[in-house]
Amino acid sequence: MIGIMFALQKESQPVMDAIKFNKEERVGRLIFHEGQLSGVDVVVVVTGVGKVLAAGATAILIDKYRPDLIISAGVAGGLGVSRIFETVIASDLAQHDFDTTAIGEAKGLLPLLNAINIHTSEVAKNAILSVLPNLKVGTVVSGDKFVAKAEESLALVNDFNAVACDMECAAIGHIAALENTDVIAVKVISDGADINAAVSFEQSLAKGSAMICDMLLETLQVINNALKMSKQ
Ligand code: ADE
Repeated sequence: MIGIMFALQKESQPVMDAIKFNKEERVGRLIFHEGQLSGVDVVVVVTGVGKVLAAGATAILIDKYRPDLIISAGVAGGLGVSRIFETVIASDLAQHDFDTTAIGEAKGLLPLLNAINIHTSEVAKNAILSVLPNLKVGTVVSGDKFVAKAEESLALVNDFNAVACDMECAAIGHIAALENTDVIAVKVISDGADINAAVSFEQSLAKGSAMICDMLLETLQVINNALKMSKQ
């Protein structure tokens, strides 16, 4: 089974419309929607915004479903040369707001993982690229901040060599890595993480979410087959 996580209901809507539902399971405030997407068994959950809510939902998702892969999906702010409506696959993930530099640690060094960058699934990445070879691959950073200033975006490029920023995927990746669960993030750029970001985000959310859904429908079977092959 593949777990698919979105921050916002709106981001998840095209997938919720496309899924062939089997059942819904409620755990506290979270609803886990089980079903098939392109014939692949999936469980879809909307986490809410930010690293804390994403991490909490990830822990429950892993505990309850033991997914073969978690896909963090949705929209993200574009950094550097990333353009609106470009699709990005995360080569790795980092938390730009995790900062223990005052006690001598490297910026972004994550507790328990003892690394700055969280690896994403090579199998999933290569499977997606085998179907859609032109997608951008690069570091996606997360933090509890909607980035809307050019100088802050520039710092994320300089410090992390990041191509996109969101508020969840590196928290999902952090928990997944600690629980030995494969993870990937697929993101459509909704804004330039600059002064126009809020307006652009609102304007791009529906189309970006539809693009993510189409991309999942196109690639899920190939991802699932590649995961099965890699475990043989
Ligand atoms: N998600 C979409 N756009 C974003 C931005 N500019 N900052 C953080 N998360 C985002």
